[in-house]
Amino acid sequence: MEDWKTLFTEQEIQVRIKQLAKQISEDYKDKDLLIIGVLKGACIFFSDLIRLIDTPLAIDFFIVSSYSGQESSGNVEIHFDLREDVKGKDILIVDDIIDTGLTLKRLKECLKEKSPRSIKACALLDKKTKRQVEVEADYIGFEVPDLFAVGYGMDYKNKFRNLPFIAEFKSNK
Ligand code: IMP
Ligand code: MG
Repeated sequence: MEDWKTLFTEQEIQVRIKQLAKQISEDYKDKDLLIIGVLKGACIFFSDLIRLIDTPLAIDFFIVSSYSGQESSGNVEIHFDLREDVKGKDILIVDDIIDTGLTLKRLKECLKEKSPRSIKACALLDKKTKRQVEVEADYIGFEVPDLFAVGYGMDYKNKFRNLPFIAEFKSNK
């Protein structure tokens, strides 16, 4: 049996993204911004966020996986790496949700080797209580407790990404 409960409505998400985009636009006014989306989960958040940022920017993507079902495998695999030159750029990593922190830590380490001018991160959701490594995002949409979220890009077994809202997902299998 599967069950879900709405956590954030479409409208609540859009209001928060507008605020994040405003802050990011101010912070990166005179910078050389390269926004890197972490696929697949960040696809919807990334698209909505960049369209509300009004400072010039370039984009690129990582395709990463670490989850199987509702648990992190602890093993972060990079399936698709960047195409853009990172050297001297101001990097903003955009992910859907931070959980153990393993993905963000690994991506930050990879990027550091390529000599960017700065690296920051933005996540729509943050499960702060689940961290296994010390890493934080600089811009966070909403903090959430230890639950499994789906919708607005986030999946359970690659499903539910197309829900326009964010819900807590429960599977009793
Ligand atoms: P972390 O490496 O454990 O921080 O988690 C990284 C990735 O796992 C996130 O970017 C998501 O793509 C996925 N993930 C973590 N928690 C959830 C969740 O509650 N729902 C859907 N995906 C999740
Ligand atoms: Mg992700």
